[in-house]
Amino acid sequence: EPTDDQESYNRYKDLISTLPTQRWVGDDLCQYHGFWFLRIALEGLMAARDRFVARSTDVILVTFPKSGTTWLKALTFATINRNRADVAEPNHPLSMLSKLNPHECVPFISFLYNDGRLPDLDSLHEPRLFAEHVPFSLLPESVLGSGCRIVYLCRDPKDNLVSLWHYMLARAHARGLAQYHSFDEVFELFCSGISMGGPMWDHVLDYWRESLRRPERVMFMKYEQLKGDTGGCLKRLAEFIGCPFSEEEEREGKVEEIVEMCSFERLSELEVNKNGRRGIGSREIENKEFFRKGVVGDWKRHLTAEMAEQLDRITEEKFRGSGLKF
Ligand code: A3P
Repeated sequence: EPTDDQESYNRYKDLISTLPTQRWVGDDLCQYHGFWFLRIALEGLMAARDRFVARSTDVILVTFPKSGTTWLKALTFATINRNRADVAEPNHPLSMLSKLNPHECVPFISFLYNDGRLPDLDSLHEPRLFAEHVPFSLLPESVLGSGCRIVYLCRDPKDNLVSLWHYMLARAHARGLAQYHSFDEVFELFCSGISMGGPMWDHVLDYWRESLRRPERVMFMKYEQLKGDTGGCLKRLAEFIGCPFSEEEEREGKVEEIVEMCSFERLSELEVNKNGRRGIGSREIENKEFFRKGVVGDWKRHLTAEMAEQLDRITEEKFRGSGLKF
């Protein structure tokens, strides 16, 4: 007799096999409720929507893929845990940030439900900290009703595309795939909304609008702002998630300490991020792929002036009237 769980995972598999599919670099994308997802991510996403039970104290980091998720995870994890006792203990969260990749410190909700797993999230320390890439319309239903807080991060579409491209190439190489799209083809697909998480503009706009509607629940940030004033953004973030830095902490340089602890230079030099890997099977990836350059404007080395103009034009048209600009 199959259990309820097996039955629902079979249902997800059946549903996924009926979705529109598109080859993308070395992966398959499937279109679900208007957005494109890596095929291997969908089962977990569907299961999380059915099963994840949010709490009002949860903090969920939502990002468009390759917009700085790893960095945001590190910053938030350090901020939330900075005043927990036992700082000297080897297992203290702040020590973990020197030993683990930030993705091991803050899990993606959907990944927890991959491969038919039923994670026990009740025993996690509060406030629980999770991440997600899903569009607003596909967040687990309990998230919307729970009153939990969502921090959203996105990035100039030009840099986001370049970062995505390198990441997808790395994924393809890791699995020994020789045939993939050219950058020009990926550019065209991205412009027409086809990319992991795409259409990017819809993803961004939905969270932007929600951050205007419910600013106490959704905080909207851009990678460029975070780069330009990391300390200022971190203070805002800390306040938003309910653990503001006290005047004393600010005087003691606690903000700068966390900014430094999570800097590209420091994280990318850690042993775990130079030589470690995570995930299994088709999800396996080397940790160093999450630390490529970490700068604003690298698109200039990859996009022609015409490509940049075309992408900027699309962004402007899509965001017109929303108050959002890049
Ligand atoms: P680039 O490919 O442009 O270098 P994600 O974490 O969402 O997968 O995004 C990865 C992007 O964030 C990569 O961008 C990566 O270099 C950058 N990044 C990772 N850690 C960072 C950090 N500590 N500071 C700034 N950027 C960082």
